[in-house]
Amino acid sequence: MSIPSDFIFACSTASYQIEGAWNIDGKGENIWDRLTHINPNFVSNNDNGDIACNSYYLYKEDVKLIKNIGFDMYRFSISWARILPNGDLTNINDAGIRYYHNLIDELLENGIKPMVTMYHWDLPQKLQDIGGWMNSLIVDYIEDYADLLFKLYGDKVKWWITINEPANIIAGYSSEKYAPALNLDSPANYIVGHNILKGHAKIFRLYETKYRLKQQGNISISINASCLLPKTVSKENEEATNQGWEFTLGWFSHPIFSKGGDYPEIMKKIIDENSKQEGRKRSRLPTFTKEEIQFIQGSFDFFALNHYITRLCSPGHPPFSSTYLKDINVNFEIDPTWPNSKAPWLQIVPFGLKELLRFIKYKYNNPPVFITENGYCESKGLNDIDRITYHREYIKEMLVAKEKFECNVIGYTAWSLMDNFEWKDGFEFQFGIVFVDFNDPNRKRTPKKSADFFKQLLKTRNIPD
Ligand code: NOJ
Repeated sequence: MSIPSDFIFACSTASYQIEGAWNIDGKGENIWDRLTHINPNFVSNNDNGDIACNSYYLYKEDVKLIKNIGFDMYRFSISWARILPNGDLTNINDAGIRYYHNLIDELLENGIKPMVTMYHWDLPQKLQDIGGWMNSLIVDYIEDYADLLFKLYGDKVKWWITINEPANIIAGYSSEKYAPALNLDSPANYIVGHNILKGHAKIFRLYETKYRLKQQGNISISINASCLLPKTVSKENEEATNQGWEFTLGWFSHPIFSKGGDYPEIMKKIIDENSKQEGRKRSRLPTFTKEEIQFIQGSFDFFALNHYITRLCSPGHPPFSSTYLKDINVNFEIDPTWPNSKAPWLQIVPFGLKELLRFIKYKYNNPPVFITENGYCESKGLNDIDRITYHREYIKEMLVAKEKFECNVIGYTAWSLMDNFEWKDGFEFQFGIVFVDFNDPNRKRTPKKSADFFKQLLKTRNIPD
C-alpha cells in the first residue's frame, strides 16, 4: 500500500513524561511533582518524573533520533509551570522560554515540523491550589498562557493542540488515576469537562482574532476515543453503543464538531433525569448559554484524535470505581481473542481504527483528522515485534479508511518517540519506539526494531500489504 506524499507522519511525547529537570532554572511545581513527592506510592515502584528521560538536557539527541528515523513532525508539550511558575503572568521564566525556543529551532533546522500541545496534564500547583480545572477562572488563566505561547512561538509553530485528552483530565478529579487524584463525586466530572471545553474555545477564538492572519497555523484539541461496537447485533446493544459514544467521544466532540454544538441530547436527557431522581434542583451537567454554544461550536481547524482501543457494548454498569461515567448504562468489554499488550487495557484491534474514522466522518461531516496518538505497550526491550504489528496493522486500516471510505485523514502520530514516564504505571509500561535505559544516569537511547520499521516506511512511503 502506498502512502500519499503529503500525508504527515509524526511521533510524540509530553513534557512531564520526558523532560525531568523538575525544579531547574526556575521551573515551578506542577501537580505531578506535588503528588509524586508527597505520596511516592501513588506510582508503581515509587517512580516519578524528576529526571524521566532527561530531555531538558538531551533534547538535541531526541531531535537527532527523530531526524534519523525520518518523521515529518514531532508532537511535544510545553510545561506550563516551566514558562509560568505560578501559573499566571506574575512570573515569566526566561530560562523555560529559551528551552522551548531551542527545541523548536533544533527541529526546524533539521526539517522537522513542531506540533505543540499547550496542556498535557501538568497543571501548575499554584492553580490547583485554587481548584484547578474545577475553578472556572482556569479558562482565563489558560487563555493568558496560550496568548503568551502564540506570541513567543507562533511564528515558528504552525500546529497547535490546546489540551490533551479531556477525559483523562477529568479522571484526575473523579478518580485516583491521575493527578490531582481527588476522586470527587459527580458533578465534578461535568464541571471539569465544561471548563475544558470553554478553555479550548477561548484559545481558538483568541488565535482567530489576534494571530491567525499573521501566523497561519492550525489548532485543535486532542480527544481520546475508543472504537465502540455492539457486543452482538441487538437493539439493546446498539442503544448501549450509542450511549457509550455520546458519553465518551460525543461529550467533547459534539459541542465542537457537530452542526448544532452543545452536549449530545442523550447526555443532557439522562443526566437531567438522574439529577431529578437524586432530588437535585439542577442537572449535574452545567448548561452552556446560546452564546457559549456558538463560541465553542466550530472551534477547530482539524479533528485531533488519540486512539488505542476497541470495546464491545451492552447494557449494564461500567466496572469503574470512579464517578467519571456514573450516569451511563453501558458495559464495556473486550473480545477474549484479541491479543493483549502488557497494559491490561490495551489490545491489538486494528479494524477499530477504521471503524472509528468512519464514525467520525459520518457523525461530524468528514473533518480533516490528524491522529495525534496511537501506540503499543510492552517492555521487551529492543526486539519489539508486537509493537511493529500494532503500528503496521493500524496504519493499514487507516489507509483503507482514507482510500476506500474517503475519510479525510491527514496525519498519523506514533506514541511515543521513546520510552517514558507512563503516569501511574511509572517506567514499567513502555510505549517507545526508542528504548531508554532508566538505570543509566545519562538515559542512553537506543532505537528499537519498531524504529527501523518506521524508518523503512518513511523512506519508501509504502507499507507491505
Ligand atoms: C495517552 C496520553 O496522552 C499519554 O500521555 C499516554 O502516555 C498514552 N496515552 C499511553 O497511555
